[in-house]
Amino acid sequence: MILGIETSCDDTSAAVVCGREVKANIIASQTELHERFGGVVPEIASRRHLELMLPVLEEAFAQAKVTPEELTGIAVTQGPGLVGSLLVGISAAKSLALAYQLPLVGVHHTEGHLFANLLSDPKLEPPFLCLTVSGGHTDLILFQAPGRYQLLGRTRDDAAGEAFDKVARAMDLGYPGGPAIEKMAKRGDREAFPLPRGLSQEETWDFSFSGLKTATIQTLRKTDRIADLAASFQWAVVDVLVERTLSAAEGLKIGQVALSGGVAANSLLRSELARRGEEKGIYVSLPKLDLCTDNAAMIAAAGAWRLEKGERSGWDLNAVPNLPLPTA
Ligand code: KG4
Ligand code: ZN
Repeated sequence: MILGIETSCDDTSAAVVCGREVKANIIASQTELHERFGGVVPEIASRRHLELMLPVLEEAFAQAKVTPEELTGIAVTQGPGLVGSLLVGISAAKSLALAYQLPLVGVHHTEGHLFANLLSDPKLEPPFLCLTVSGGHTDLILFQAPGRYQLLGRTRDDAAGEAFDKVARAMDLGYPGGPAIEKMAKRGDREAFPLPRGLSQEETWDFSFSGLKTATIQTLRKTDRIADLAASFQWAVVDVLVERTLSAAEGLKIGQVALSGGVAANSLLRSELARRGEEKGIYVSLPKLDLCTDNAAMIAAAGAWRLEKGERSGWDLNAVPNLPLPTA
């Protein structure tokens, strides 16, 4: 019975996980607080985490119908993320671990996103390929076994979610940009504007979205067909994400593909990956929406495995804003 805590960016989350069962996964979003600034303001985020941490923990215990005495360990996001935000979660985790004499482990945020797939889909077993697409990441990772990850491709500039957010901002659609563009795109024609697919001339599983972002913003200056442009932009992002992910799966002969991160909530990305995956005989696992975005259940799941193999963090556990993904 593991308690997970996640505060790396702007979501305050606490969860109780037992094996592959999520007993509670409470997520307090701060989106409204940051909306008027068009992005996450680190100082505001850490202050809000401080206010929300205890109520969110209490809610997680209440919903899981579990008391702290029944826990067997605590897992907390150590990085990457905003240092002030991470520190709130780490301090809470240390306090509880000390008070209840529980083993504590720090978890890499992306390792959490990978484990979200195992929580979400009981049929999924490694090895599988995971495309993690969020505001900060666009990573194509081979999950060989717990703790054994291989980074196959990543963005060379903007993350996919970041591109959504920046284009939405230029279109005055508000923040966060992904859902706003998705909504606008529903009324548009995705073939209206031909937009570049970054790195399509190269043999690579890397991504690049800054050229697409610039081309979209330049086109925006010359047109008032916002819905068509939003649809064409979304299609260019999705097309390249799906194409490269399935190309890597075929190249490495991996028959299972999974998705994680905030952009995994995009319905075109989900349906295209499922459709083109099926055509190629590749099993596509799509995570439940509350396990796509930042959440503590995924941190508890990754931490449970680390605690089980005897890994422990000491009282000197510290936030590491640029923590590298553990690979073996
Ligand atoms: O994983 P996440 O909640 O936070 C991190 O960045 O770690 O991801 C947030 C990102 C934002 O860039 C947001 O615009 C994007 O995910 N996003 C979407 C959608 N929902 C959220 N992008 C495209 N379509 C969506 N429906
Ligand atoms: Zn994330």
